[in-house]
Amino acid sequence: MTFLERMSARASEIDACLKDAVSEFPADRIRDGMVHALSGGKRLRGYLVLESAALHGVPGESAIWAAAAVEAVHAYSLVHDDLPAMDDDDMRRGHPTVHVKWDEATAVLVGDALQALAFELVALGPPPAEVKLALSLSLAREAGGRELVRGQAMDIAAEVADTPLLLSEIESLQDGKTGALIVWSCAAGPVLAGKNPSGMVRYARCLGRAFQIADDILDVAGDESRTGKRLRKDEGMGKATFVSHLGLSGAREKARELVDEAMAALAAYGDGAEPLREAARFVISREF
Ligand code: IPE
Ligand code: IPE
Ligand code: MG
Ligand code: MG
Ligand code: MG
Repeated sequence: MTFLERMSARASEIDACLKDAVSEFPADRIRDGMVHALSGGKRLRGYLVLESAALHGVPGESAIWAAAAVEAVHAYSLVHDDLPAMDDDDMRRGHPTVHVKWDEATAVLVGDALQALAFELVALGPPPAEVKLALSLSLAREAGGRELVRGQAMDIAAEVADTPLLLSEIESLQDGKTGALIVWSCAAGPVLAGKNPSGMVRYARCLGRAFQIADDILDVAGDESRTGKRLRKDEGMGKATFVSHLGLSGAREKARELVDEAMAALAAYGDGAEPLREAARFVISREF
């Protein structure tokens, strides 16, 4: 099975879990918006949950809830990221964004509902209560004002900053807006198994940075029919990225170094970590 086939098989498992969860909601426009926002997507974060779990001997039935949860937070973050007050995007995953298909109030509320759904999913899963508590606490920390929201706020503030951000500030911005959920996803496996997550966190930190650099490269060099979202916008909006700082080839080189570091963090894990190695190769070669 190729990496893309494996990720797509994982995506189907995650989709089924999300579909069941949302089907219990009242049939209204918020539910329709949630279904819309959850559809499509690579499910890379969910894949990382399921593969880090498999690597630590955790069965899929125990990990699928956490995989669906992180995809719900991620979907919410995209709905809000696309709002006119943020990146103002009209296309996501090949379809109109939620505020374009419905309206802004609906998009705000759909995002709110998806974020709450994530914690419901963690709480509903079969793992022991203390494991679910650890997962909810860390998800709240990664998704909130310490990390994802902090990174998004820095990203927006950078658009109008008087002086360009330092590279270290861009790294901190990206560790928050993108790295945090990737770290949570990779740590979920060891946390579910009651093991130390530090090796997975080292891998995830590098993977998350490489992933966002690749996103910034795709904005310049990608194809909208492959990404399903508008490209060639970051420069005009004044976004602070590795590409704005290092240029395309500098950013590509940095992403390659990060993938090497991510691979090194997996050295101790043996052959079982191959699906995670493939994910690291994918994040910098991807076209979507
Ligand atoms: C897009 O994430 C947002 C970023 C953090 C760069 P993905 O590229 O994983 O988006 P989907 O889930 O596949 O649509
Ligand atoms: C989005 O980063 C990060 C989050 C949604 C938290 P971007 O704004 O670069 O993502 P795209 O390019 O819109 O997918
Ligand atoms: Mg953004
Ligand atoms: Mg955006
Ligand atoms: Mg982007």
